[in-house]
Amino acid sequence: MTLKKSASLALMALAVSFFIGCSSKEDRDKYDQWYGSGSKSREEAALVKLQSDRKAAAEQASAAAAEKAAAPAATPAATGDTSAAAAPAADAPAAAPKRKPVPADVSALLNKHACFACHQAYDKVIGPAYSEVAKKKYTPDQIVELVHNPKPEHWPGYPPMAPLAHVPKADIIVIANWINSL
Ligand code: HEC
Repeated sequence: MTLKKSASLALMALAVSFFIGCSSKEDRDKYDQWYGSGSKSREEAALVKLQSDRKAAAEQASAAAAEKAAAPAATPAATGDTSAAAAPAADAPAAAPKRKPVPADVSALLNKHACFACHQAYDKVIGPAYSEVAKKKYTPDQIVELVHNPKPEHWPGYPPMAPLAHVPKADIIVIANWINSL
């Protein structure tokens, strides 16, 4: 009889302690979340907020960028001024074919005589761009003479080009005809 009683008491005690154990864990979680060291749940909440904030900021930025991109296209149309919109489009194809590649034979001569060290077709290096020389409208013979006996006074602001008397006339004629085609 006593054994049965104590056994049932023990069983009850076990059940109660189990119940207390469960409830106290739940309580601790709840307490932690609001007041205590429930750092994990708070970290998670903060992370979710951070992510959603970032997403919102990115959406705002891309919306602003889209607005910006749309603005220049919309403005000339709105003002009826099509020239501003047409100008860059017209410039681009005009500038592209102007920069012709240097023909292989001319390029070989410019390399051989080291003209490329100081001259480029369209860009100023040490000497003027050949496209600038072309504007002077020299005859090929004049160019031969100027390579053999440069006249630095033609190009104020540039250092004087050294006389290149060793460069064959025939080579300079080929170069000169190409310069005048620029
Ligand atoms: C060390 C640099 C240098 C090298 C190499 C050089 N040039 Fe020049 N060249 C210049 C400079 C600087 C000028 C402008 C000043 C001058 O004319 O003296 C010039 C000017 C010219 C002019 C314009 C002349 C004028 O009076 O308008 C021609 C054409 C020219 N160079 C062709 C050539 C050719 C072709 C070669 C290769 C055979 C060559 N240059 C090599 C530096 C150089």
